[in-house]
Amino acid sequence: VNNEKIRENFPFFIKNSDICYLDSAASSLKLLSVINSLSNYYVNNGTNIDRGVYKLSADATNQFEETRKMVAKFINSNYEEVIFTKGTTDSLNKIMNSYQEFLAEGDEVITSTLEHHSLLLPLQVATNNKKAILKYVELDNDGKITVENFKKVLTNKTKVVALSYVSNVLGTKIPLEEIAKLARSVGAIIIIDAAQAISHLKIDVKKLDIDFLAFSAHKMYGPNGVGILYGKKELLLKIKPFDYGGQMMHLVDYNGATWKEIPHKFEAGTPAIAEVIAYKHAISFLEEIGLKNIYEHEMNLRKYTLEKLLLIDEIIVYNKISHSPIITFNIKNVHPHDAASILDENKIYLRAGNHCAQLVSKHINEESTLRASFGIYNNYKDCDKLILGIRKVIEFFKKFQRR
Ligand SMILES: Cc1ncc(COP(=O)(O)O)c(C=O)c1O
Repeated sequence: VNNEKIRENFPFFIKNSDICYLDSAASSLKLLSVINSLSNYYVNNGTNIDRGVYKLSADATNQFEETRKMVAKFINSNYEEVIFTKGTTDSLNKIMNSYQEFLAEGDEVITSTLEHHSLLLPLQVATNNKKAILKYVELDNDGKITVENFKKVLTNKTKVVALSYVSNVLGTKIPLEEIAKLARSVGAIIIIDAAQAISHLKIDVKKLDIDFLAFSAHKMYGPNGVGILYGKKELLLKIKPFDYGGQMMHLVDYNGATWKEIPHKFEAGTPAIAEVIAYKHAISFLEEIGLKNIYEHEMNLRKYTLEKLLLIDEIIVYNKISHSPIITFNIKNVHPHDAASILDENKIYLRAGNHCAQLVSKHINEESTLRASFGIYNNYKDCDKLILGIRKVIEFFKKFQRR
């Protein structure tokens, strides 16, 4: 990967060449092609889709649907199985809310303590509503979900398995293919939160036999406000619309209405048109560079940084093993928010907190941690800056303690 050339695609660095951005797991920086596309729609179009018969609206509709085709190709699904939402949170809320119709008292649902609140909370609400039983897969010592531990909670009462492919705190990946097969063997459906996986790992929904998959464009160098919910066709035909209103109905009468075909039945109201159109450029970018190359580059940066971090006595790393380019750590006797503030003064941006996953905090017994996450634009200079920054934090607090 020619990293210097790739960085040129991100206008953020024009005025911020000295910023060390290590928070791509929260949100990635945006591509110039995405920004240009947004601006092009707002300057030269601005019309709604699926309504106007005039040319501009038809153009916008075609471009919007073009993105759907690209997403379908990217995850190897059919075109009508891709639903646009506002983001992963929205996708997961919509599906948990809708699918609870098929849950009954005493049914079992499997999840884990690794989950982001955007999967965990809608799942807790849905299972509480239906008096279904929520079961947590036990993690192994490295914070991983193993097939053996998964088998311990799987029964023939399991109706839903809802997990993230990659943890946003520990970066661990689940053995998805085996888990999906096991879920299938008891007739359960599998819902996957792919927010942290989609920009690093190839996901083939057919090969993995996933029923529902959720992710966000803003973690893929794309725009905010766009998410995807993939659903298997037979299930999308079975579930009710998420929202009711314009664009999703077919015929309306005094006492009721009929709905459009999938996926339009799930997309009520005016969507984020410019953002969906622009999102296409983020997908093209990932495809052009290749997820494999992106992943290799990011994991090399992770390895380099981890080796240096582990040489520092004051550092505690919580995920020595990770399948994604994140490092979650703390500096002994320094609160992560204090560390992040000093790093911020040194133009090093990383995340401090519980990362919207409080059950993981309980698991590692740390309320708050620092998380450095790498993207395609990061380079070895960023890794060195981070290490130097951390040494400064340690020095600063040592002086403080001596007083
Ligand atoms: C694993 C995981 N799931 C869900 C989300 C929520 O994504 P969004 O805020 O785009 O809805 C995130 C975002 O950090 C995440 O890391």
